[in-house]
Amino acid sequence: MKTIIEPFRIKVVEPIRMTTRAERERILAEAGYNLFLIRAEDVLIDLLTDSGTGAMSSLQWSGMMRGDESYAGARSWYVLRDKIAELTGFTGILPTHQGRASERILFELVGGRGKVVPNNNHFDTTRANIEHTGAEAVDLVIEEGKHPTTRHPFKGNLDLAKLEALIQRVGPQRIPLVMVTVTNNSGGGQPVSLENLRGVRAICDRYRLPFFLDACRFAENAWFIKQREPGQKDRSVREIVREMFDLVDGATISAKKDGLVNIGGLLLLRDPELIRRADELLILTEGFITYGGLAGRDLEAMAQGFDEVVQEDYLQYRIRSIEYLGEKLLAAGIQIVEPPGGHAIYIDARHFCPHIPPHQFPGQALVVGLYRHAGIRAVEIGSVMFGQRGQAPSMELVRLAIPRRVYTQSHVDYVVEAIIELYQQRDKLRPLEIEWEPPSLRHFTARFREL
Ligand SMILES: Cc1ncc(COP(=O)(O)O)c(C=O)c1O
Repeated sequence: MKTIIEPFRIKVVEPIRMTTRAERERILAEAGYNLFLIRAEDVLIDLLTDSGTGAMSSLQWSGMMRGDESYAGARSWYVLRDKIAELTGFTGILPTHQGRASERILFELVGGRGKVVPNNNHFDTTRANIEHTGAEAVDLVIEEGKHPTTRHPFKGNLDLAKLEALIQRVGPQRIPLVMVTVTNNSGGGQPVSLENLRGVRAICDRYRLPFFLDACRFAENAWFIKQREPGQKDRSVREIVREMFDLVDGATISAKKDGLVNIGGLLLLRDPELIRRADELLILTEGFITYGGLAGRDLEAMAQGFDEVVQEDYLQYRIRSIEYLGEKLLAAGIQIVEPPGGHAIYIDARHFCPHIPPHQFPGQALVVGLYRHAGIRAVEIGSVMFGQRGQAPSMELVRLAIPRRVYTQSHVDYVVEAIIELYQQRDKLRPLEIEWEPPSLRHFTARFREL
């Protein structure tokens, strides 16, 4: 069969409500044209993020009922621990409430002034946690990963030559670990090949450096490896996942993505001394080592989620539905980051609204226009998000992140239709100026005015 279906049927539904255009005009004005400041209830299709917005399965919900809420040694913890050990081979497993908590613990232990942490592209919380310790976060994605129209099967790869040059320039003693983000969220959700991960491992071995994954979307990355990397198509996703984890000394994971849960995270470590010190920090700020800031029921849902995410019919539907959205937009002449990534489509806002210069926020204009036109919420990743320190980002993007197992093909078709209609009247999209902004992370709370 050519048709790839959603590999689930729907047992519980959550109504969504269309607003009128007049209502949306009022909502936008009240929110200062910042979509973070509107109520989710006023959104028809919410593509703000794929993080923590997925739908859980009947088995996850029944797991919630089995959750053991004991403070120490809860059965649910052992269920999760054994599942993660089986999937990744790690035995040093720390539960956290979400990805950034794992990052904070890790970088509090290994970061600090004078340290340098390379990555393909640091996600913003990873960068912030590294910089918070006084260390420097350096992005070393391959050149192809920086250009929206350049096609490459693994645009998330880390540039090995640049990594080696960095190590030689600053000295290995200043690099506490090398990180690679799979898939590369800040670089368009693009995957990293096994060959590249093996290459990073070899360099780390040469300089005796630990190698860590930011593994939020490890299963989506493994699916791309299976599809695109020579010699991988006959291996199971589980086998590929295992090899990815076997190559590294640790990982930070936000389970809100490929853990298929609404809250949760993990820190995986091999070094016994690091585990001991991380356990201390975990107890200090997250919770005891067998629950780490989560309820027993959350641990159960996570254990089941990590099982379901490596099911190949799920991954086929997941990646295909995003590719489908990307193909439809490209066919209508709308430039996106190519090829489509694993969890989102990124529209090139400079191409979409060439009449709006970066300092008048083309990405934000598109986000506002999309909500005004069709009640869809997307997010700007461009001059609003990154331009606060006076630097123009290399791309002006609008991200359409797809929550897992939430929307069906007709929702995606509606999104496609809305974006194409908007593209046909793109000259009406209005430039914006900032009315008020906070000192940092302005995209969350800034208020804009339409010009
Ligand atoms: C690549 C990456 N790393 C880390 C994080 C942080 O995870 P959390 O939001 O659970 O703190 C995210 C979240 O979007 C992410 O995409």
